[in-house]
Amino acid sequence: MDLKNFIGGEWVDNNLQTMPIINPATGDQLGTIPLSTKTEIDAAVNAAKKAQKHWALVPAPKRADYLYEIGFKLKEKKEYLAQVLTREMGKVIEEARGEVQEGIDMALYMAGEGRRLFGETTPSELANKFAMSVRAPIGVVGLITPWNFPIAIATWKAFPALVAGNTFVWKPSNETPMMAYELAKIFEEVDLPKGVANIVFGTGPTIGTAMVEHPDIRVISFTGSTATGSKVAELGGKHLKKLSLEMGGKNAVIVMDDADLDLAVEGIVWSAFGTAGQRCTACSRVIVHSSVKKVLEDKLLTAMERITIGDGLDPHVKVGPVINRAALEKINHYVGIGNQEGATLLTGGRILTEAPLDRGFYFEPTVFTDVNADMIIAQEEIFGPVISIIEVANLDEAIAVNNSVRFGLSSSIFSRDVNTIFKAQQLLDTGIVYVNAGTTGAEIHLPFGGTKGTGNGHRDSGQAALDVYTEWKSIYVDYSGTLQRAQIDT
Ligand code: SIN
Repeated sequence: MDLKNFIGGEWVDNNLQTMPIINPATGDQLGTIPLSTKTEIDAAVNAAKKAQKHWALVPAPKRADYLYEIGFKLKEKKEYLAQVLTREMGKVIEEARGEVQEGIDMALYMAGEGRRLFGETTPSELANKFAMSVRAPIGVVGLITPWNFPIAIATWKAFPALVAGNTFVWKPSNETPMMAYELAKIFEEVDLPKGVANIVFGTGPTIGTAMVEHPDIRVISFTGSTATGSKVAELGGKHLKKLSLEMGGKNAVIVMDDADLDLAVEGIVWSAFGTAGQRCTACSRVIVHSSVKKVLEDKLLTAMERITIGDGLDPHVKVGPVINRAALEKINHYVGIGNQEGATLLTGGRILTEAPLDRGFYFEPTVFTDVNADMIIAQEEIFGPVISIIEVANLDEAIAVNNSVRFGLSSSIFSRDVNTIFKAQQLLDTGIVYVNAGTTGAEIHLPFGGTKGTGNGHRDSGQAALDVYTEWKSIYVDYSGTLQRAQIDT
């Protein structure tokens, strides 16, 4: 299918150059997207700006009604959307269903915010005066979303923006534009006012840059690589944008000597190799107490024998392809580095080339052991099905190793000791901590984001997302009939 931009409620075809959409499981072409330019961004921002004047005045509970309708449509189409998602992104069908469900949950959760959007009332220091704070919409917001969660992450950003009274211009990833197209169709079906949601396809350097530089886009919410996020930060800073940046991770599972090792292995396999290791929260380090290292490794290797690799549309498959050839080569490059650094390759380490996998982009789930915490493979984000096992002597060392990377998204600890668990959750320097579970599995009503190089202090999801898409406005109402002067010390 040849996708078109969705601008001002219309499907716009400007006879632009196109690029193909490829199914990573088979290499088949699924369609094309237009390679838009600054002209299309300008048109989308104009439409969004015009629409926002009216949208901001629609009562929040009425804005929320659209979100309920969007949520119900997503639910109606869940299976169809999951199939499209697996085709364009490659994740296995049960994960794709889960991701669409996240979109449904986010729609309904944020619709609930239409009747909350709480501010504060507070006493004034003066008599006959009333003080309160309210959340005000910001205006036109720019959303730049990644390919690994093409619908969930989009809804984490779009729905709080909408319920708060903003309109948006959204640049989805070139790799996974079909979910954006499907969402645009839903926006049309629920009669979302024209111009409230605008979608423009194209490359980061051209249209991403045009969005960040555009004077009428006040907020940029970005999820993607650290390299691109840093560029957005630099350019956005120059243009004084409000920025919400969500970038890399180097997430670890800690396995203590008192852990349930079978459970830990399940958690590691799921969070390291699910989505072919392409979650921001994916486990890419296992920090293990020396007394259980060997047993854990044996159990892990046994569990990995059961992993089936292939096209995610096959319900028996547990690990699908990675997103494209460049990703495959990047992962392979890091495996080469691991070998050069002297880590021991326990299993995996290959691009899979046996038919029919040779048609797509498949990497064998890979485990390195005897890894030092400062090796490159233990420090840099690989974004593929590769883990590094690092041995430690105690909890303090485990926490120090966990915190030794420049990222701080997710961490996890397996232990049965309440003291160990509470000390760890306090000292692990990550935005998300799991206890007796792997590093993935964020729920939409909690803040999602990380510390240090993972982000810039903002959060997607949960009530915290509203902070990105609203300004606080403080309102003082003086009903004394006199000019009461605050801050005058008489
Ligand atoms: C992600 O990591 O990008 C998605 C959230 C999760 O699975 O925790």
